[in-house]
Amino acid sequence: MDRTNKVRKAVIPVAGNGTRFLPATKAMPKEMLTIVDRPVVQYAVDEAIEAGIEHIVFVTSRNKSAIEDHFDDTPELISNLHRAGKTVQVSELERILPTAGSISFTRQQSPLGLGHAVWCARDLIGNEPFALLLPDMVCYGARGCMTGLMDLYSEVGGNIVAVEECDPEETSKYGIVGKGAPVSHGFAVTQMVEKPQPSQAPSNFYLNGRYILQPEIFDILANQERGAGNEIQLTDGMLRLSQAQAFHAQAYEGRTFDCGSKQGFIEANVAFALARADIGDLVYDSIKHMVLTHEPQVRAA
Ligand code: G1P
Repeated sequence: MDRTNKVRKAVIPVAGNGTRFLPATKAMPKEMLTIVDRPVVQYAVDEAIEAGIEHIVFVTSRNKSAIEDHFDDTPELISNLHRAGKTVQVSELERILPTAGSISFTRQQSPLGLGHAVWCARDLIGNEPFALLLPDMVCYGARGCMTGLMDLYSEVGGNIVAVEECDPEETSKYGIVGKGAPVSHGFAVTQMVEKPQPSQAPSNFYLNGRYILQPEIFDILANQERGAGNEIQLTDGMLRLSQAQAFHAQAYEGRTFDCGSKQGFIEANVAFALARADIGDLVYDSIKHMVLTHEPQVRAA
C-alpha cells in the first residue's frame, strides 16, 4: 500500500455523553454548546483547517446528528439571509461549510474509552499519519496548537503530542508525559501515564488533547487492555507505540481551556468574548463592573 508521510486527515472524537452539562446536553450534543456564537466543535475544526488538514473524520455516537447538520449546507437559510441583507452571517456560514466530501462520520457504538474511539476511525484513516483533536479542549493563542505540532512534525516526523503544565496537584485529571532530551521546538517523551496521582506522575506536563500519530497506533489499540477508569486508554497505547517509534512533545505557547468542565467552559467564553472586535469592550466593562461591585447578586441555584 502507498504510504504518505503527510498529515492530511484529522480525527475528532465527539462520542462522549456530556453528563457534566445536563440538562443542557439532554437533547443536544455537548460539542454544540457555544463559546460566544460558535459551537465548541467548530473551534477544533477551524484549528485543524488552519494547520492544513484536508479531511476530518468525526467519531460520533447516538444523538449526535446535530453535529452532522451543523457541517451541512443550508441553502434556504442562506437565501433568506441574502434577501435580508445579512451579509456578515452569510459569509460566516460560507466560511464554515466544508468542501463536499471532506468530512466523514463513523460511530463508536459503546463508550469504551478514547483509545477505542480513535480505533473506530482506522478504516477511514487508512495507512497514513493523522492528527487528533479532542474538541472539549479549546486552544486559545496567537497560533493554532495543531499548526505548531505540524511544524515540529515537518522536522522530526514520528509521533507528536502537545502538552501544557498543570498544577502538580491536578495530574490525576489528565494524561501526563515524562520530559526527555530537548529537540528543536519540543522534547522527547520518556513516559506516559493516564491520570496518575501526583506522587506517581513523571512531571506536570499534561496532554492537552492535540496529537499527531502514526497509523501503527491502530494495531496497538486493537488489543489494548482497559486501563484507568476501566476504559481503553489512548495514553496506554501511545506508551507502547513510543517503545517502537519516535515520540516527541511540544509545549503549547497559548492556553487550553478544558471545556469539559463548567469552569473551563465559562473561562473560554469570557476569553473569546474579550478577544472579539464586536463585543470585547462591552463584555470587559460589564465583567469589570460585576467584579468590582459584586453586582448583580443572584441567589445560589
Ligand atoms: C483525555 C485523555 C487524557 C488527556 C485529556 C485532555 O482524557 O485520555 O490523556 O489529558 O483527554 O482533555 P478525558 O478528558 O477524556 O478523561
